[in-house]
Amino acid sequence: MSAILEVKTTVEGFRLWPAALDAQTQADLVDAVLARLGEGPFYRPQTPGGRPFSVKMSNFGPLGWVSDRGGYRYQATHPQTGRAWPDIPPVLLALWDATVGGPRRPDACLVNLYRQGAKMGLHQDKDEADLGAPVLSVSLGDAAMFRIGPAQGGRTTGLKLESGDVCALTGPARLARHGIDRVMEGSSRLIPGGGRLNLTLRVAGLSPR
Ligand code: SIN
Ligand code: FE2
Repeated sequence: MSAILEVKTTVEGFRLWPAALDAQTQADLVDAVLARLGEGPFYRPQTPGGRPFSVKMSNFGPLGWVSDRGGYRYQATHPQTGRAWPDIPPVLLALWDATVGGPRRPDACLVNLYRQGAKMGLHQDKDEADLGAPVLSVSLGDAAMFRIGPAQGGRTTGLKLESGDVCALTGPARLARHGIDRVMEGSSRLIPGGGRLNLTLRVAGLSPR
């Protein structure tokens, strides 16, 4: 990890550490992700309304976020293989401690893969048991335009997230609406096969671990 320096943003509670991960750490993290995908392969979830996401997903950790006809929820097993999710790469837990910290470490890491025009509509992260704990997000690979606005709706702000950037939704921004407008395809060569990887760490479950 390189020096972790936070910058000020105009959205209160939205915290940003640009270039928090140096090139070597990014490459090692991609390897750590790829090494776990055999056990927990990417799949394309569906919205509760039955529409496929453009983003492919997997999860690491005791709990994983899933979406299907039954709704949004966290569960301990991969919806297609029925197996437990792979463990969260230790470097991500260290990154959590070095940035948002707090009494509980994350028990869920959502892995999003954006390829060929994939994007993510504005939404809130609100399926976690404790909405007080922060959400930490790591960007790898192609740069993307991230959009964020108040929980109750209204004006949004766009900002570019680049490979190695780390950001967090905390305090007044914990329930902020956010999404990915577009990915700048081919802007990075980090991910084999191209695209963008986003790793989102959350405290999803109830009981202290
Ligand atoms: C998400 O909100 O789940 C993903 C955000 C991102 O890809 O940066
Ligand atoms: Fe989100």
